[in-house]
Amino acid sequence: MSVLVTGGAGYIGSHAAIALHDSGRRVVLLDDLSNASAAAVDAVRVLTSSDIPFVEGDAADVGLVDDAMGRFGVDEVVHFAASKSVAESVNEPLAYFRNNLGSLLGVLAAMEARGIKRLVFSSSCTVYGEPEVVPVTEASPVAAVNPYGVTKLQGEQLLDVIASAGGLDVMLLRYFNPIGAHLTGSIGEDPTGTPTNLVPLLMEVAVGRRDRLQVFGGDYDTPDGSAVRDYLHVVDLAEAHVAALEALASRPGATAVNLGTGRGYSVLEVIGMAEEVMGRSIAYEIVGRRPGDAERIWADPSFASEVLGWTAQRGLREMIQDHWRWCEAHPMGFETV
Ligand code: UD1
Repeated sequence: MSVLVTGGAGYIGSHAAIALHDSGRRVVLLDDLSNASAAAVDAVRVLTSSDIPFVEGDAADVGLVDDAMGRFGVDEVVHFAASKSVAESVNEPLAYFRNNLGSLLGVLAAMEARGIKRLVFSSSCTVYGEPEVVPVTEASPVAAVNPYGVTKLQGEQLLDVIASAGGLDVMLLRYFNPIGAHLTGSIGEDPTGTPTNLVPLLMEVAVGRRDRLQVFGGDYDTPDGSAVRDYLHVVDLAEAHVAALEALASRPGATAVNLGTGRGYSVLEVIGMAEEVMGRSIAYEIVGRRPGDAERIWADPSFASEVLGWTAQRGLREMIQDHWRWCEAHPMGFETV
């Protein structure tokens, strides 16, 4: 079996590529390197001791995707290629629709032309907006509250329609907050430009690239006043993609699945854990809430356990330890010499 991984040089894609390789599949990576590094591809090849093919280009380019599928005998697809900054999506909504829906349409057109039916789609807990009730289950109401969220929700809806017509079997994986890195510390998250996510920013403070972290909101209705999220280890998340491809055999149509640990941590708890793991203090200041942030959100992961036979294995300490190992060795990301 050969699996095409779009966005395969990115943070989650590169980790998933290793898990897919370890499951016995031949892996083909496709990435336009707009928010990823070719060095990640090299590192994946080293970690898998395998000369994994890499196609550089845009998943919206049907001809390119179709050609890669033909050349490498692809029979299933994991589609990550997308932009993921909420803030950027607010400033450049059209770019988000073009990239996130364009890449999905490109992949779907090529899949249809090749008669490929098995797909795993990278979605997000952002489809739940600001939930009134936690934990969220797959039956919780969906509501996109920013352009990025709209692209994920519309992507899911499009896939649901095509699957209902019998054209596709697809897992819609709704990720909560992936952090951490491969145990070796040789691949990890390396955002282009200024990061917007909590842990990459916290790591920049730890390596001295930033004075202090801003904690967005200290007056939420949570035990310590800071917002609560369901952080999960990127290697656990990667393994869920293997389980999802395998589950498609017995689950035709479209199935949405939450991927989280089922436990929430506050921003201050994450900082506290980082201080413990690193043995140093992290400078931070509590500032105003970030517009559009939910107060608290975590997953009910029981459906993932039922459908995929998957539960997250790694706790917050391991997530931070592994993320830190990567950042300590690569303070400037993949550009570190
Ligand atoms: C958001 C999206 C998620 C998306 C992810 C990708 C929602 C609910 N979640 O996650 O779907 O996949 O972005 O980028 O829309 N924080 C600080 N200071 C900082 C940065 C963050 O206090 O400098 C806080 C945030 O307020 C939040 C938590 O840390 O409470 C996590 O933030 P972040 O890492 O940006 O992820 P989400 O916003 O939860």
